[in-house]
Amino acid sequence: MDKFVINGGKPLVGEIEISGAKNEALPLTVASILTDDMSVISNISDLADLRSMISLLEVLGVRSEIKDNVLRIDPSGCDGYEAPYDLVRKMRASVYVLGGLLGRLGRAKVSFPGGCVIGTRPIDLHLMGLEKLGANIKIEHGYIIAEADKLVGTEIFLSGPHGPSVGATVNVMLAAVKAEGVTTIKEASCEPQITELADFLNSMGAKIDGAGTPLLTIHGVKELHGAKHTVIPDRIEAATYMIAGIITRGNLLIKNCVVQHLEPVIQKLKEIGAEFTFDDGCVRVKATDPLKPANIRTAPFPGFPTDAQPQIMSLLATVPGISVISEGIYPDRFIHVSELNRMGADIKVDGAVAVVKGVSNLSGAPVMASELRGGAGLVLAGLSADNQTVVSRVYHIDRGYESMEKKLASVGADIKRVSE
Ligand code: UD1
Repeated sequence: MDKFVINGGKPLVGEIEISGAKNEALPLTVASILTDDMSVISNISDLADLRSMISLLEVLGVRSEIKDNVLRIDPSGCDGYEAPYDLVRKMRASVYVLGGLLGRLGRAKVSFPGGCVIGTRPIDLHLMGLEKLGANIKIEHGYIIAEADKLVGTEIFLSGPHGPSVGATVNVMLAAVKAEGVTTIKEASCEPQITELADFLNSMGAKIDGAGTPLLTIHGVKELHGAKHTVIPDRIEAATYMIAGIITRGNLLIKNCVVQHLEPVIQKLKEIGAEFTFDDGCVRVKATDPLKPANIRTAPFPGFPTDAQPQIMSLLATVPGISVISEGIYPDRFIHVSELNRMGADIKVDGAVAVVKGVSNLSGAPVMASELRGGAGLVLAGLSADNQTVVSRVYHIDRGYESMEKKLASVGADIKRVSE
């Protein structure tokens, strides 16, 4: 297992290029199996989660190749319908093959994704949506077994206790594009990856309207064909490096961003006192003390993303005053707090709310990443802390950040990957 050894306290200065979005590439890869033709997806990042998805699709008979960040995917041999536990447990987005296989083969047997360190993460909305389309679903021996002689369009309401579900919207879209008749999804997720998935499916011949709004209308078509698509830049990676610039009181140019997707994060970072300038897909961010505390509530897009919550918490831990962070999506996503407190932060959690009392500086310590974004938050804390921080279990971070340590080292961070 690798760890990051960080000698903190150095302001980051320079340029960082953002890679393709993980959360867009994953559903697109599964959407490719809805035809027998080859699809070509560009701007693919080298991420453990994408490798996991490609391994899973290989088991189902899909052939693929990645060269120069371009994924060529040949689904013509995809006749397997069983997604085994060993592959699904690595990544929850594996559950997208449920909708993909139902859309392709009319049957799927997919391991039930288990609990997760950031919360219980149920899939009831996914299963309800697929059932409404006509799938017969049973849970047996830890597997979801779904079958449908035919799928038929209908009206589906996809909001849960914490708002719309990204994953359920993806699964229903994948199953509905070739269903008979019209499917309307009410309270659909409006996240950018849903808009991109709809664009990709439409370029394959699907008829989806309303992507990016809570009302999606899908007119079923008989056949889809292969398509080409370029993945948009990863907004959470961009947010993470913006915060890296601010937490080290540095000056970074973040290249290759969709600024509009970053608005909720940029607004909060401005409120905290960071300065931004924008130029053609590039964002320059710089910060000097004093910064101000802030109150944040995570919410579905266009709200503040839960996937940037641990990172901004690390920043607020270094800003004198009281900040309050409420988790509106994953009420238990605070596993990074005890590690931050070991670095001298003063954070108290009560239910879904964390009260952060900023300190003048964090102190380096050995800490452990327990999940992807929490791990990124600990790296940011290490960059700002005195002395040395060792972040272990960086395989969590490798799931969603391409060469994080190299990108940070290129702007002046003292960070090394070490194999344990
Ligand atoms: C996706 C993102 C993840 C992000 C999350 C929230 C991908 C691959 N992952 O995850 O990075 O943190 O959105 O923005 O895109 N829920 C239910 N029932 C369901 C499904 C979800 O109650 O059937 C709840 C969840 O527990 C959570 C909320 O709905 O509280 C949102 O979850 P969802 O949008 O489904 O997250 P994911 O798609 O798993």
